Order: sequence, then structure tokens, then C-alpha cells
Amino acid sequence: MSSLKELVAGRYGIELDCGADMAAEGTLAQILSRGSQRHYTDEPVTDDLLQVLLACAQSAPTKSDLQQYSIIVVKDGALRQKLSDQGGGMDWPPKAPVFLVFCADIHRIRQLAGVRGHDHQNDNVDTFMNGIIDAAVAMQCFINAAEAAGLGTCPISQIRNKIDETCELLGLPEGVFPIAGLAVGWPQFPTPRISLRLPQSVVVHTDRYDESNMPANVEGYDQRRHAHTPLPEAKQRHVDKYGALDYCPWSENVTRQLSHPERPGFRDFLNKHGFKLG
Ligand SMILES: Cc1cc2nc3c(=O)[nH]c(=O)nc-3n(C[C@H](O)[C@H](O)[C@H](O)COP(=O)(O)O)c2cc1C
Repeated sequence: MSSLKELVAGRYGIELDCGADMAAEGTLAQILSRGSQRHYTDEPVTDDLLQVLLACAQSAPTKSDLQQYSIIVVKDGALRQKLSDQGGGMDWPPKAPVFLVFCADIHRIRQLAGVRGHDHQNDNVDTFMNGIIDAAVAMQCFINAAEAAGLGTCPISQIRNKIDETCELLGLPEGVFPIAGLAVGWPQFPTPRISLRLPQSVVVHTDRYDESNMPANVEGYDQRRHAHTPLPEAKQRHVDKYGALDYCPWSENVTRQLSHPERPGFRDFLNKHGFKLG
């Protein structure tokens, strides 16, 4: 029986001195082995299983017990197609056996404030953040539960490409907006490809934030990652502007990506959609 040490090494592409005495099984092994799955069989996911998984999602922690999120289960085929049409490159997720949209939702408690006769003075950045975190941790609980049941999943931020249209299609009132879609199905390839992560020396800090060796540590990561999964031209960002490279490391590609503003209209959308973000 292999140990968690091997799975940790698989996650980073380097060995860490941990997990040698722990068998590679159960929840920890499942989490260490996870990867996004984008190809599914035609086998349906039963409503019974889906309801259990949604209950797992709702078992996530939630800020002040406010439960400021909603989950849309998109079943209607025509609606899925419309979501796909406006998502720009989002052709495969709506064809997944299950397609969910996780939403931050500050609308519900605002409605309840009216019912209870209280002011609601929190259409603000803090509540915006709480709603997003609630929705995100619920989505991750769903993902872990789905993968424990043998399903594959992939979050989809492309649902935010045309966020006005998405809100319109899903009937989302002011104060509710999608943070991500989630495609779910029985995976065609049971073993997902592992995407190497940044080393703990870069991401984990003790007591105080310390970036002293960050560039050198990221360079090592870049090289390991390229050796593990070289980035083909088709996945290199903004090739028209920066050109295609034989060695296009992670740090090159992510900085290329963020050299262009992404979804710059989002703040305006939110300010029109029930938030006061300034
Ligand atoms: C909030 C969020 C949004 C994402 N959106 C997309 C997406 O629109 N399309 C896609 O193919 N993958 C999407 N992903 C999946 C990431 O690309 C993936 O998690 C990342 O490349 C790391 O790979 P891994 O999940 O296999 O470890 C998203 C992931 C997250 C957490």
C-alpha cells in the first residue's frame, strides 16, 4: 500500500518529509489526488445522489450562519444551450450530466428584513465578500462529496463572461450573482491529470509573510511544471502579442493572462445589481 507521502510528492513534483506513515486511502488521499474533470460519460446522475451532494454542499461553514448563497440546478436543455451560447468557449460544461451555478446571495436576508420590519444596511463590500466565500466553500464541499461518490467536476468561471445575460437567463434578482458554474458527471477517465501546485515555501508562511526567496522558488516550480506538463501553444495566453514559446512556464503564462484586464465591467454590474461597492 502506498503512502500519502507519494501523493504529496505527486502534488508538488518534489518530495516532502511528511505522510510516510499514513496509508494512501480515504478522504486525504482523495483530496490529494483530485483534478478537474471535463469529460463525462452519458450516464445520468440520479436526483437521489444529487440531493445528498447538495446537502453536503450546505454542510459547509457559513459566515455568522447567514447562509448567503444559492445554488441553481440548471436542468432545462434550452436554457443550458443559451448559457452555453453566451459563455464564449463554454460549449462543453452545459452538456455535463449535472450543471450547477453557485451564487452569492444577499437578496434573501434583504427580503427577510422587509418581512421582519428591520433595516438592511449591508449592501456593502463586506457582505459581498461573505456571500462569495459562503458560495465558494459550499461549492468545494459539493466537489469533495461528488468526488467521494466517484464523480468528476470542474468549476466554470466562464459563466461570468456575460454576467448580465446569465443573471437574466437564470432569473437572478438584485443581490444574487453567479460566482461559478460547476459541471458534474461520471468521468470518462477515472484518474485525473494532476496539476502541480506551487511549493509550500511560496504559499505557506510562518508567523509573518515572507517572500524573500519567492522568485527563485517559483523558477524551480516553473521548471518542474514544464517537465511534468509542457504548455502547448494552444494553451499559451496572448500568443498574438507575446509570441509562442517552446518553454512557456507557469509564471510567464499567468502574468501574460493578467496583463489584460479580465471582466472589467464586473464592478459596474454589481453596483447596478444591488450592491454598493463604490
Ligand atoms: C473559481 C474557478 C473557476 C474556474 N473556471 C474554469 C473555467 O471557466 N473553465 C475551465 O475549463 N476550468 C475552470 N476552472 C478550473 C481550473 O482551470 C483548474 O482548477 C486549474 O487549472 C487547476 O487544475 P486542477 O483543478 O485540475 O487542479 C475553474 C476553477 C475555479 C476554482
